[in-house]
Order: sequence, then structure tokens, then C-alpha cells
Amino acid sequence: MNNSFSSYRSLFPILSEYVHVASCSQGAIAQPVSQAIEDYHNELLSLGTNWKQATLKLEATREKFAELINAEPDEIAILPSVSDALSAVATSLSYHPSKNEIIVTDMDFPTVGHVWYAQEKYGATVSLMRSLDGGIPLKQYEKDVTERTLLTCMSHASYENGIVQNLKGIADIVHKKGSLLFVDASQSAGHIPIDVKEMNIDMLATVTRKYMLGIPGVAFLYMKKELAEQVKPRHTGWFGQESETKFDIFHSTYAAGSRRFETGTPSFISVYAAHAALKLLLDVGVSPIHFYLKELSRFAKEFGVQNGLQINLPFDTEITSGITSFHMANASEIEQRLKEKNILVSARNNVIRIAPHFYNTKEEVAYAITELSKFAK
Ligand SMILES: Cc1ncc(COP(=O)(O)O)c(C=O)c1O
Repeated sequence: MNNSFSSYRSLFPILSEYVHVASCSQGAIAQPVSQAIEDYHNELLSLGTNWKQATLKLEATREKFAELINAEPDEIAILPSVSDALSAVATSLSYHPSKNEIIVTDMDFPTVGHVWYAQEKYGATVSLMRSLDGGIPLKQYEKDVTERTLLTCMSHASYENGIVQNLKGIADIVHKKGSLLFVDASQSAGHIPIDVKEMNIDMLATVTRKYMLGIPGVAFLYMKKELAEQVKPRHTGWFGQESETKFDIFHSTYAAGSRRFETGTPSFISVYAAHAALKLLLDVGVSPIHFYLKELSRFAKEFGVQNGLQINLPFDTEITSGITSFHMANASEIEQRLKEKNILVSARNNVIRIAPHFYNTKEEVAYAITELSKFAK
């Protein structure tokens, strides 16, 4: 393990009892995150109401996420989930018959399809882009995105096989065709560097509970300010107004930038957690985490194959994320059986995902894979 990371291990109480390699589902909770949750609770207990503190924390959290992806704070909306972020975008767009196509890919998390299919009633047409051998080559985007495409949705890293897509390359292609780009970064933010300006990303959403070390209840939506200001969200509320303290029911003035996608009172307890999590993440640094996880996942693949596991990936290891997934029949049952041995992995359909973070050691990954391989025999 990288020496600079080992000093952080003691911040994660779960690691003394469990091998936690399930960051693709829920990252391990660090002591400062746990403390932040308690702080929120204690403020309510001792002050009765902590609205001022909580709204200040909301802004501080927005700033931290903006720093993580190189955006401006008012290009960020804080929402309950990625599904909400997608719905916020979907209910803000206009679907003209000559420009109403939404492309989703079969590598996307199912919620992406669910949200967009629901828009067909309102004029959108959803097209499914299919992966080939577990990934989508750039030439597929060249072929499928046309002048009719309003928006192309894709996952930066696949939730199932961990493949990482080339954001900059895809952004260049979709923009050339006149489409906007929506990136689901739920499986990459926190362990793969993202620079929305350099990559020219129009919209990006991510949960905080996975590699970003937070808990459920907070997701972020980034949208380029100039784009956000062209839309008038139909899914809205007082937090999406220029001033939520105006209390003016007769008028509606959207907030500047992407804040306009916010609706009602956020889950402040999750915001407190997200703030502490982002602070820790920025302190550790996403680039060193990325470097380390590439090494760990290369090891996981090689060690898994040596132990007779079948890898769910025909591609070069360079383009995979921290997730290594192995084909396993009865994956959910195996996840449960490993949990009984204090090993936390994550099942999806017929794969088991091994998803370490910077706080994991190579030995833990090897142990989890050794125990997993016993089910393959
Ligand atoms: C890539 C990806 N996107 C979206 C989601 C779901 O996000 P939410 O539950 O915040 O809508 C998940 C899974 O939890 C995911 O893995």
C-alpha cells in the first residue's frame, strides 16, 4: 500500500473487522464523515434549529464538489439522487420533432433508461446504443449520434464491468454532431480525475455514497452555466429560486446557473456527510488514488484469473476503473455468504464486483478473491 494512504486507514473503523471492497455500492465511512453526521444531529439536539448552519454547509459542499471537478459553484445543483438529476434535466429540455433523440447506452445504469423512456410521452425518442465486447468504441458514437440527437447519455465507468469511456473523445464527437453530453460519473467520481472544462462536458451527475465516501441522500448535478441559464426547469421549488428567503408566491425567478434545478429542503444530514467526505477526498487527492487503484485492479484481474475466476472483461486493463468484476452464477447468494465471513463485495446480475478504494491493501483484495474463488470450484 502507498505509504501516504496507510495513515488514513485508521479513519475507517469498519476496516478493523471487515474486508470492505464494495465501493461500487457504498464506500466505507470515515470517522470525520461519521462525526459530521453526529454534528448535524447534535446541532438539532442542542440548538433546536440549525437552519443557518445547515444552509452554510450546503454552500460549502457545493464549493468542494466544484473544486473536485473544476467547475464553478453555481454550476452545481445538490439533489437527492442521480435519478433526480436525470429527471431534472429531462423535464427541462424541449423535444422538437427534428431534434428529440436521446441516446442511452446498454452500459448505463438502468435508472438512465427508466428516466428517459418516461419522456417519450412528452416528445422524446430514446435510442439505445449497444456495447460490443463490453465496451463502446468511439466509432460507434460517430455512427449513432446524428443531427437529430438532442442529448447523448453515457457512463464514465460502467457499474457492471468497470470499463472507463473516453470522455474527451466522446464529447468531441457528440458536439461535432450538435448533441449535448450527459455523463453519469457515479462509478468514477472520487477515484478518477474529472475536469469538466478540459473535457468539455455539458452535464454530469454523480452519487456521493460510492467512491466519494458519503452516504445516500446527496447527489450532484453539474451543468455548464450558459446551458443551465437557457432552461426553465419544470421540476422545481423554492431552493431553485434566486432567493429562497423571499417568500414571494406571486413570482418565480430562477436562481443563476444550475442551482435552479434544486427543489425543496435537502437532506442536510447527508450534506454534512458529503462535506466531510469531500474534504477528506480532496486532502488525499484523486490523482494518487487513481494511480493506486489502477495498480490494485490490475492485480485483482491477474490474481482472479490465476485463481480460476472468469473475468467479465475482454479489454485492456488500462481502460478499467477500480471495479473488477467476475462472472459468478448465484452472485447475490455469494455476496451474502462472503458477508458472513466479513468480506464485503457487491453482486449485480451474474457478476461479483471487487471494488477497493485507497484505504484497501493488496492483501485484502487477494483475500477477498481467494475466498470468492472457492465458490467457483
Ligand atoms: C452508474 C450508476 N448510476 C446511477 C446509480 C443510481 O443512482 P441513484 O440511486 O442516486 O439514482 C447507480 C447505482 O447505484 C450507478 O451505479
